[in-house]
Amino acid sequence: MILLDNIHQTYRGPKGPVHALRGVNLQIRAGEVFGVIGRSGAGKSSLVRTINLLNRPSQGTVTVAGRSLTTLNTAGLREARRDIGMVFQHFNLLTSRTVYDNVALPLELAGLSRQQIKTRVNPLLELVGLGALADRYPAQISGGQKQRVGIARALASQPKVLLSDEATSALDPETTRAILALLQQINRELGLTIVLITHQMQVIKQVAHRLAVMEAGQIVEQGEALQVFSHPQNETTRSLLDDVVPRELPANVLERVRALLGVPGQPPASLLRLVFAGVESDRPLLSDLVRRFGLDLNIVHGQIDEVQGHPFGTLAVLARGAQDQLNAAIGHLRGAGVQVQEVAHA
Ligand SMILES: Nc1ncnc2c1ncn2[C@@H]1O[C@H](COP(=O)(O)OP(=O)(O)OP(=O)(O)O)[C@@H](O)[C@H]1O
Ligand SMILES: [Mg+2]
Repeated sequence: MILLDNIHQTYRGPKGPVHALRGVNLQIRAGEVFGVIGRSGAGKSSLVRTINLLNRPSQGTVTVAGRSLTTLNTAGLREARRDIGMVFQHFNLLTSRTVYDNVALPLELAGLSRQQIKTRVNPLLELVGLGALADRYPAQISGGQKQRVGIARALASQPKVLLSDEATSALDPETTRAILALLQQINRELGLTIVLITHQMQVIKQVAHRLAVMEAGQIVEQGEALQVFSHPQNETTRSLLDDVVPRELPANVLERVRALLGVPGQPPASLLRLVFAGVESDRPLLSDLVRRFGLDLNIVHGQIDEVQGHPFGTLAVLARGAQDQLNAAIGHLRGAGVQVQEVAHA
């Protein structure tokens, strides 16, 4: 659906050229939610803006829905851009227009009749949950509602691709989840291809099927979300993942648990850090530890949610029992695909 071939972007900065993109190759498939993540300045916005040629790349070619955008003239490009909707971090709504009129704007510009506009806009307002707020002005609605307007407006010209540049960055976590759920619904129901730019792994985790990680104008890692989450290859990816699965147990937890280890007269105990990533979701692994290996378990820290329908996260457990049973239990977990680290033992 989207093909970026050897994209370079060089800006003229006050202190000389800035190489914002340095040879980016990317293939985004029709119907997928593709995430692009990276730290500030990595080149994410530069990348997404080349997809609709808001930024013309210094070098390389952009193909969207079979059309090579980089070779089109102005009129051809205007036409091609109807296939590509975009939502922005700061919504970019016109304050003097109502919700309805903001969504209608691209259709007015395209020369549709009032009636045609109405039959297009009303269902879109319903889709994004703003049917009742059509006559409000941007100043009279919340940030999340503004972004819903932005999404409806982006969908007005019935695009094949939706580009989202930090669309949830100005929103609180709960509103972020709701907006991401809406994007997911649009992806599923309308079959729209979505490119999601973000600096938050949480956002990628909730919705992306595949992702690319950017660093200093290049893609340093890409792949299926679950694969990248469970086996990150690049240091940038690992450090971004730290936001969703911390690599280390917090020091205060470690200290508290150390006090529980090595209680005189008790069987040996291990503090295990379990990483669930790409594990079959329906196996009762923790109860196995209790029933099959006779261990006493105490969950001391952790969080599990999911990536692409698979459990994902970490648990720290204090497991107490006979040494050979502890060892066998660790083998059992590893055999089921759980990564196990023995953090402390006594
Ligand atoms: N118009 C411009 N002129 C000069 N330099 C620019 C311009 N736009 C971006 N840059 C520079 O290009 C690099 C990449 O910027 P870009 O906005 O693509 O990063 P980003 O990953 O979107 O960052 P953020 O997460 O902060 O939005 C940065 O070093 C930035 O300063
Ligand atoms: Mg940006």
